[in-house]
Amino acid sequence: MEKERIETGIPGLDKLIQGGFIKGSTILLCGTTGTGKTIFSCQFIWHGLEKGENGVYLALEEDKESIIKCAQDFGWDFKKYINQKKLIVESIFPSSLEEIKDTIREFIRRVNAKRFVLDSLSVATMGWKESESIPIIRRSIFELAKTLKDLQVTSILISEIPEGENKLSRLGIEEFVVDGIIRLHYLEFTTGDIPRSLIIRKMRRTDHETDIFPFEITEKGIVVKKG
Ligand SMILES: Nc1ncnc2c1ncn2[C@@H]1O[C@H](COP(=O)(O)OP(=O)(O)OP(=O)(O)O)[C@@H](O)[C@H]1O
Ligand SMILES: [Mg+2]
Repeated sequence: MEKERIETGIPGLDKLIQGGFIKGSTILLCGTTGTGKTIFSCQFIWHGLEKGENGVYLALEEDKESIIKCAQDFGWDFKKYINQKKLIVESIFPSSLEEIKDTIREFIRRVNAKRFVLDSLSVATMGWKESESIPIIRRSIFELAKTLKDLQVTSILISEIPEGENKLSRLGIEEFVVDGIIRLHYLEFTTGDIPRSLIIRKMRRTDHETDIFPFEITEKGIVVKKG
């Protein structure tokens, strides 16, 4: 299989992962609240739009306008591309993962999207409890990832981590199904140094860097500093 790379659009990140995400791969973007998951994902979508790759941003908790405004703050004019039918930003309140999968399929086909963001997978799997059958849950998440693969989009699935927890996902299953994992950190009570950092926790078929890399949120978005 070819390893065509999709640039992330985050300055400093691509060189840590051999040029970008593998085309068609599914990446879990983990972090506690306010670590920059939504900004990172908007930046990924924006970079694609500027390169002629259409996108879909599906929000499950945040309303559509707040995603558009978040992008606008960094000068990323999502509305322009929505009007040109190259981008869909939508917020839905689904009743099942089936419904989410159907919506994703429809949206991605509608604009022939090459990049997709689900904000967030944690909300998508909210209907399940840890006590439910692990094989069934695992299969459902696998099928979601397979849906995205079949559509040949490169995807970011956002994973919200509760404060103080050392998990990568809500159920502890999601990380095994995805191709890559990037974790964003925010260090409280620090003085001087940049409080934000990221780690590439997994990137299948990629000889990736393993250090902790500080990053900043600038007026142009996220910028990874040299480690
Ligand atoms: N214009 C800006 N310049 C610098 N930093 C900013 C700017 N806008 C937001 N931030 C920082 O980014 C944080 C929010 O980032 P973002 O919305 O991507 O987080 P998140 O991980 O998606 O959070 P949540 O889990 O609550 O959705 C803010 O708390 C703030 O620290
Ligand atoms: Mg967010």
